[in-house]
Amino acid sequence: MTVRVGVIGTGMIGQDHIRRLTDVVTGAAVTAVTDLDAARAAEVAARVGATVLPTGAELIHSPEVDAVLVTSWGPTHAEHVLDAIAAGKPVFCEKPLATTPEDCLRVVEAEQAHGRRLVQVGFMRRFDAGYRQMKEVLDSGSLGAPLIVHCAHRNPTVPDAYYSAMAAQDTAVHEIDVLRWLLDDEIVSAQVITPRATSKRFAHLKDPQIMLFETAGGVRIDLEVFVNCQYGYDIQCEAVGEEGVVRLPDPASVSVRTAGRHGTAVPQDWKARFAAAFDTEFREWTGAVATGAEPTGPSAWDGYAATVITDAAVRSLQTDGAVVTVGMKTRPAFYGGTA
Ligand SMILES: NC(=O)c1ccc[n+]([C@@H]2O[C@H](COP(=O)([O-])OP(=O)(O)OC[C@H]3O[C@@H](n4cnc5c(N)ncnc54)[C@H](O)[C@@H]3O)[C@@H](O)[C@H]2O)c1
Repeated sequence: MTVRVGVIGTGMIGQDHIRRLTDVVTGAAVTAVTDLDAARAAEVAARVGATVLPTGAELIHSPEVDAVLVTSWGPTHAEHVLDAIAAGKPVFCEKPLATTPEDCLRVVEAEQAHGRRLVQVGFMRRFDAGYRQMKEVLDSGSLGAPLIVHCAHRNPTVPDAYYSAMAAQDTAVHEIDVLRWLLDDEIVSAQVITPRATSKRFAHLKDPQIMLFETAGGVRIDLEVFVNCQYGYDIQCEAVGEEGVVRLPDPASVSVRTAGRHGTAVPQDWKARFAAAFDTEFREWTGAVATGAEPTGPSAWDGYAATVITDAAVRSLQTDGAVVTVGMKTRPAFYGGTA
């Protein structure tokens, strides 16, 4: 069976996922698209032979659409996801699930009322081969209990519109999701401190930031977010356990020796670094949809948790580094697991 996907939002990542669903993933086709920018939607639709529909609601209820992909702006996500749940259709929502915890909870409640999982949130790191290998090691117990995790999330530069709270909301949110999953543990507090700012920053930006998280199990996480590091897009993660250490591998890349030096290239953006993870994410999602199975990727609850934890980090940033307790609701049994 070919999964017929309708896409709401044909901007940067919408187009990338449409290409992925068309050229990379087998068993899926993009049959309908919509965008507030009708000309953009028409241009993208023509490339893949999809129908342009005027609104998200019409796309969701179209008989040509089996499953919905939401890649519009964050504040619009909850409305489209709630509509897809009401229509009983599987929905993949790019992060964030919603921009407020209250809207995330509306989705969580609607999905539970529906009675089975329909929602997957676009945290792609869980599909990265390196993170999956790290999780296998941690789950095996061979390192004993995890105690500390050291992370870094570095971008070469960010656009002028990037502001300090986005370090948590847009950047660290990926670590927040992947660490909850890696450790199978919940984050209970957040603290954000700001070292001397780089002179390469924009005047309004606190960069870098150091984020400190604590989990319910007592693991301490330190995360450097440095979004104007100049040299490349660099993701580091090292978990220290009672009996050893496991590190996220750098992407495979040839080693070049020349002019008295040897080295490997550092990716320049997240698209290149996580291209294979995005492909796996969509293969697994469409595979589940095709068989009528519930999605196994990040859930609506994970979307809620990420929003609550990033809110706590932003509050810490805004209160000069106070330790902020994460005020998360109790995880419903519907979502299984612990984190
Ligand atoms: N997983 C990741 O690493 C990752 C990476 C990039 C972007 N994202 C997320 O994807 C989403 C989109 O980001 P982007 O960079 O592609 O933005 P973008 O601005 O390039 O594209 C968004 C598009 O959605 C359209 N749009 C907005 N609201 C709409 C609505 N209600 N109905 C129809 N069309 C609508 C806009 O006209 C625009 O064309 C954001 O939530 C962003 O956080 C996730």
